[in-house]
Amino acid sequence: MHYQGIIAKYKELIDIPRDAEVVTLCEGNTPLIPVPKIIDALGGGFSLYIKYEGLNPTGSFKDRGMTAAITEAKSRGAETAICASTGNTAASAAAYSARASMRAIVIIPAGKVATGKLAGAIAYGADVIQIDGSFDDALTLVVQISEKHPIALVNSLNPYRLQGQKSGAFEMCDALGRAPDWLALPVGNAGNITAYWMGFKQYHSLKNTGLPQVLGVQAAGAAPLVLGHPVEHPETIATAIRIGKPARGEQAIAAAEESNGRIISVSDDEILAAQRLLAYSGIWVEPASAAGIAGLKKEIDSGRFDPKGKTIVTVCTGHGLKDPNVITDNFKKPKILPATLAALEKEILHG
Ligand code: F0G
Repeated sequence: MHYQGIIAKYKELIDIPRDAEVVTLCEGNTPLIPVPKIIDALGGGFSLYIKYEGLNPTGSFKDRGMTAAITEAKSRGAETAICASTGNTAASAAAYSARASMRAIVIIPAGKVATGKLAGAIAYGADVIQIDGSFDDALTLVVQISEKHPIALVNSLNPYRLQGQKSGAFEMCDALGRAPDWLALPVGNAGNITAYWMGFKQYHSLKNTGLPQVLGVQAAGAAPLVLGHPVEHPETIATAIRIGKPARGEQAIAAAEESNGRIISVSDDEILAAQRLLAYSGIWVEPASAAGIAGLKKEIDSGRFDPKGKTIVTVCTGHGLKDPNVITDNFKKPKILPATLAALEKEILHG
């Protein structure tokens, strides 16, 4: 039978109502891509794979959680879903709601959502509302409104989101035959790091697959878990993780501690450099998704982490197409030549 998404694949392990009709876009089943050029750039002597979550149906890992959250909401008769979002959750909630013939309302911080995400949410037919405030303000509002009205909250505060997202850990263990030694991933609202840790522990208890050490990576301008306090005005080029009060912050810290890992921060320049490293390996990701590689590089370069002989996986959470402006705004514009062979030869052979 052809692949039918993460709920069909991992039915017994995902805790959602048994009789629910599954709302799916056949998400998950994303590749672990080896990146030998990045291994060399980081000094060599270890294995490194990219879990390329940009290949999910709406271009980010959120689809793993959304299939579960919308399936559960639909099964109890919800007609409307709502979320706060820096963009990817919005696009995913919009797509899965469309699939379930539900209304989606997405609340986003005005001017701080990448073009491809906003366009996605609109294309899938969501009611998109911008607020003059941050993601954290938007999250406070959607929690309040969903407590007052029969509207299903599909942010990662919704436990079904984690049920779905932990499938990424199962897939890694299936592909490698065991858990990696280290898992590096970006941290924003801290749902994904929580879900991965949950998934690895569950698989280990069933299949003895081992546990990774977890390296969570925040952007320096939005690093409440590193600073130890909320950040009132978070700022980073990685708008996906521009979050000052992570809803699952305590669980993220617990995952890092229990796994004998840590949560660190990287600068926007380090994020953009990691985005380039990935792109030159043929993997274009949005800035937030490069944070894992940026964090790994920082730890290796500083000598805090010896990668020799280790198997490391980095989760690249969203596709580069989501945020094309980061590239077009920050890189040299392609030249325009006269349409002549002479001009072309001059440029290519002597340029
Ligand atoms: N990477 C990308 C591309 C994201 O969109 C997000 C979160 C994260 C990493 C961090 O994941 O929040 O589970 O720690 N995006 C949310 C959104 C906040 O609204 O799309 P997290």
